[in-house]
Amino acid sequence: MKTYTIRGAAGDSQVLVGAGLAHLPELVAGRQVVAVTDTTVKRLYGGSIPPTDVVEIGTGEGVKTLETVRSLYEAFMDRGMDRGGCVVGIGGGLVCDITGFAASTYLRGVDFGFVPTTLLAQVDAAMGGKNGVNFGGYKNMVGCFRQPRFVLSDVAFLKTLAPAELACGFAEIIKHALISSRRMFELLEDRHREALALAPAVLERLVWDSVTIKGGIVNRDEREGGERRKLNFGHTFGHAIEAAAGVPHGHAVSAGMMIAAQMSVDRGLLAPEELARIGSLITAMGLPTIIEVDPRRMADGLLRDKKRTRKRIAMVLLEGIGRAVVQPLDIDELLEALPTVLESVRTCG
Ligand SMILES: NC(=O)c1ccc[n+]([C@@H]2O[C@H](COP(=O)([O-])OP(=O)(O)OC[C@H]3O[C@@H](n4cnc5c(N)ncnc54)[C@H](O)[C@@H]3O)[C@@H](O)[C@H]2O)c1
Ligand SMILES: [Zn+2]
Repeated sequence: MKTYTIRGAAGDSQVLVGAGLAHLPELVAGRQVVAVTDTTVKRLYGGSIPPTDVVEIGTGEGVKTLETVRSLYEAFMDRGMDRGGCVVGIGGGLVCDITGFAASTYLRGVDFGFVPTTLLAQVDAAMGGKNGVNFGGYKNMVGCFRQPRFVLSDVAFLKTLAPAELACGFAEIIKHALISSRRMFELLEDRHREALALAPAVLERLVWDSVTIKGGIVNRDEREGGERRKLNFGHTFGHAIEAAAGVPHGHAVSAGMMIAAQMSVDRGLLAPEELARIGSLITAMGLPTIIEVDPRRMADGLLRDKKRTRKRIAMVLLEGIGRAVVQPLDIDELLEALPTVLESVRTCG
């Protein structure tokens, strides 16, 4: 088991990789614990949750609402949970985001921890302290920054995960390599077959590398004033593609990373050979390099980007594999260049 510490403004977060539900009792010893999980995770792993109160929520983005948060407040009150209690979210990113928000606001904030059970949650959603729910038709519109006290990541959970869910995690893993670590990118090039076959040693290494990359960025910029924006690599276009084409997040982000990488080539930041390597890895990992979307719908998606400030959008580009840079781009110029960029991705992908 390895531990990485994220130092948040409101307290530290210990991310333990290679530790599962069996470690939970020692982390919450002597405290009242309420666990929150979803129906699927309860069915699959309910028997391994150490004896504790378990509250169940439904599955799917549709339950990521203030109504579900309200039902959790009621469950905490019914159980008489006070400030000394600890809430533990056991599940994917959805359970983590909702549980973290409910715990952060109940009694002005009780401690919480996560046991992420999807690859996406282990490499991304469970770390970093962003909690929240969807509101008014927008994703993650209402929420807060607050770090979980602990995150217990065990790759053993991943063997029951659907391939589409695994793909979402792999897309974020590729993202971490591209923005921060050439060495991790080369590891993926060499060992992606083992990763796709869920070889525990390779998976655990990829989860650990992701934890140190995302954790390191959050340690330097918890509230996304600067460097944390690099974690949005591929997501500006990714979110627009996801909304317009209704494809899984990981597919949209993969295609979004190719567009951002092509723009990096067009600006002379990235060598064309490196773009080709990125495309080959994305394809080898079973992810798409291009998803056809009507450019007008793509433009609508970009204009709805939460990270946009009026005329400018903070675009994450690559200066090489393993090195990201954030550049403010004029939105009109971006929209004008988009058809040519898309055409270039089409011909190189
Ligand atoms: N807070 C953040 O920084 C952050 C970052 C990225 C994503 N997110 C959020 O995370 C959410 C997506 O997370 P996700 O992809 O983990 O989805 P999810 O939590 O919806 O899980 C996907 C599906 O897998 C099932 N599942 C979970 N663990 C399983 C297992 N071990 N075996 C079999 N099935 C299992 C779930 O029941 C669900 O049906 C989104 O709401 C997104 O906004 C948050
Ligand atoms: Zn993502």
